[in-house]
Amino acid sequence: MSIFLLSSNVDSVGEVSKQNSALHLESRGGYSLSGDIKVSGAKNSALVLMAASLLTEEEMLIKNVPNLTDINGMAEILISLGVQLKRSSSEIYISPQGLHHVELPYDLVHRLRASFFCIGPLLARLGKAKIPLPGGCRIGARPVEEHIKGLKALGAQINISNGLVTAEVPGLNKKLQGTNVILDCPSVGATETILMAATLAEGTTTINNAAQEPEVQDLAKMLNSMGALIEGAGQSTITIKGVKKLYGCNHTVIPDRIEAGTFLIAAAITRSNLRISPVIPEHLKAVLEKLSDCGCSIKFDQDGINLIPGSIKGVDISTEPFPGFPTDLQAPFMALMATAQGKSKIKENVYENRMQHVYELKKMGASIHLEGSTAEIEGVHELKGAAVIGGDLRSSAAMVLASLVAKGMTKVWGINHLDRGYESIEHKLNSVGADIVRKEKSLEVEHFPIVGERAA
Ligand code: UD1
Repeated sequence: MSIFLLSSNVDSVGEVSKQNSALHLESRGGYSLSGDIKVSGAKNSALVLMAASLLTEEEMLIKNVPNLTDINGMAEILISLGVQLKRSSSEIYISPQGLHHVELPYDLVHRLRASFFCIGPLLARLGKAKIPLPGGCRIGARPVEEHIKGLKALGAQINISNGLVTAEVPGLNKKLQGTNVILDCPSVGATETILMAATLAEGTTTINNAAQEPEVQDLAKMLNSMGALIEGAGQSTITIKGVKKLYGCNHTVIPDRIEAGTFLIAAAITRSNLRISPVIPEHLKAVLEKLSDCGCSIKFDQDGINLIPGSIKGVDISTEPFPGFPTDLQAPFMALMATAQGKSKIKENVYENRMQHVYELKKMGASIHLEGSTAEIEGVHELKGAAVIGGDLRSSAAMVLASLVAKGMTKVWGINHLDRGYESIEHKLNSVGADIVRKEKSLEVEHFPIVGERAA
């Protein structure tokens, strides 16, 4: 079997590599948009579902997988562990029977934080894992002590030294033991790690203060289709009765609620009517409420949402774990607020350093005062094109959104981040009337903005 990959010469967590830093988007703003945009499968689901495939020896088929560089990164990780993969369009076939390596290479883990998801399945299936600590990234420190705490409670012996996590399940049968875990914070990744590890443990595990995100629910749904016995996913207490074996299954990834939210904001910021589908409205409740509060009318049909914008006024948001307003849409929403009538306040509560887009939006003429993790925004009549950079995935998306309404040309750098989480964003936006061109130019002849460079 083989897998075809996108060019994956990206540094997905941080540095803009020299090769990719030459890539940028040139977006000419001011066009009204109209029509339908199709939402891809959820990146954050697909990544963990791929890792969860390691829990069985049987063939898995995961459908509606987005074509993203992060997905390629996870594919490379699985291949490095001895797994075979085949991709056809948005479907990935995974044959995990060849799984034999338990050590993940540093460079792949560094490129993709989500590769740490493999620790739970490796421990559950092979009783051993060696994974470099993923480390922090631009938006915050992002520790993994909650993942480690949960795995230790399940009986794993874990040693962290020189940045390498070495984990082993003691005993002859190398079986994790069901237990009661109370998370200090409802970490999505820690909930998913413990959930996966506990499926093959002896006895019952409960996760208290679990993350309730739709991606956790999607993972539990797939694991149950594989034969796991999980109840309560989507609530704050999840119960997992360990089983002896998991089986192969077919699973379709949920639509990406963050991509859908980004396109809804694209409609609002350009004051255009757009239909976004497929979406699961409950996954977007907090976002739809805020869009409605700021003057948009929202209509649901069979599997989509029509957004009809009014005159957008400023509203306050505060990011929270699900079902609160998602941190991953904070930067895109700030771009919208930069163009709203009146004032708004945006408070980031999930990550300590997720405000780098403020400086870039200011370069485009936005009026934003930043104090710690709270931004006070006074909507302006007009944004103007500038050279800007998205320092992480979602701030890159915010720059693209702002560019849609900015006067003149905006050059958006940091596209390596964008390609991690948005499948063909410029094609999707161009299909409804935007004017965005992907360019590759030498750094010598372009002004290449520095992340966080302050607006004059
Ligand atoms: C996932 C999503 C990411 C999203 C985030 C929050 C994936 C691949 N990524 O990331 O897009 O922004 O949820 O919705 O699914 N924390 C600790 N200790 C830990 C674990 C987390 O303090 O052991 C903190 C983090 O530093 C962060 C917060 O908890 O401040 C949320 O992190 P977490 O929910 O774990 O996010 P991820 O799973 O990394």
